[in-house]
Amino acid sequence: MPGVDIDSIKAAAGQEINSASSLEELEQLRVKYLGRKGVLSDLTGMIPGLAKEDRAAFGQQANALKNLLTSLFAEKQASLGQGTPLAGEAMPDIGMPGIVQDLGRLHPITQTINEICAIFIRMGFIVVEGPEVETEYNNFTGLNIPLDHPSRDAFDTFYLKPKDNYSERFLLRSQTSPVQIRQMKAAKPPLALVAPGRVYRPDAVDASHSFMFHQIEGVVVDKGIRFSDLKGILEVLAKNLFGKDVRTRFRPHFFPFTEPSAEVDVSCIICNGKGCSVCGRKGWLEVLGSGMIHPNVFENVGYDPKVFTGFAFGMGVERIAMLKFGINDIRLFCENDLRFLKQF
Ligand code: DAH
Repeated sequence: MPGVDIDSIKAAAGQEINSASSLEELEQLRVKYLGRKGVLSDLTGMIPGLAKEDRAAFGQQANALKNLLTSLFAEKQASLGQGTPLAGEAMPDIGMPGIVQDLGRLHPITQTINEICAIFIRMGFIVVEGPEVETEYNNFTGLNIPLDHPSRDAFDTFYLKPKDNYSERFLLRSQTSPVQIRQMKAAKPPLALVAPGRVYRPDAVDASHSFMFHQIEGVVVDKGIRFSDLKGILEVLAKNLFGKDVRTRFRPHFFPFTEPSAEVDVSCIICNGKGCSVCGRKGWLEVLGSGMIHPNVFENVGYDPKVFTGFAFGMGVERIAMLKFGINDIRLFCENDLRFLKQF
């Protein structure tokens, strides 16, 4: 080509860019090659003066050089921008405090579940889980809950759309008690387990109701298990959970899956039993349902009720967490507000 050797320009530019040791130096080179009055601009300026047949090839070569240099500059800029500081450049201040990362933490519900399960693990229980989509049998029928029981009503249970190829109806479990049925069907006594998990009920949401909440179910089955064993176990739970001065009270109640059944209260942890707004001036807080497993439930899972006895209990995790942490609105658990979550 007349008077210019693009290849040697390319070689020289490549070398210069490569050995640039600062962003300022690199910028000077960019101006030298790609600037308005730079080498590339000179080259394109020469095109009109060339013989007609040489113009296209020369133009293409100049263009290719321009593209190559542009990418070399970009690469070098990136490596100078992030690389280790070169001699003569200022070192960053290594004494400057770093950016403090917030530590994550467990949700208060998870903390409460873990704490309760740990108490039972220390007493020799195992922790198991069951599915949230259950059969109507496990959630109701197996638990001796009669067909006309109000809890079976669609107002109190989320039923799933029936599937053609299943004769069973499916639902979102409304309690963790179906895990009793699953576990007793799967294993022979002795049995001592707790089962934490989510449950669902079509309740209107307010400060104390939610359509999803958590329960922990407990089951113990063996020969010779008595109501006094249930009392002892729940006493240990209450003292570990709420403090050694807490008292428990068993009130007769009815559940279809236990006989006899009891609701269990603890002395109010806010007023220590004197009566306050949290316990409704009663001095007692209801915390769980329990009882001796009904013989019909044993029959349903294939246990001989003449040989085995056992107890079961179920508690609401949100309620216990609210009491323990002094939380007055159940909706706070689901709002993911860091100002709330950071307190636990
Ligand atoms: N499933 C009951 C409920 O959701 C709680 C319960 C009561 C569980 C008594 C039990 C029990 O295992 O024996 O209200």
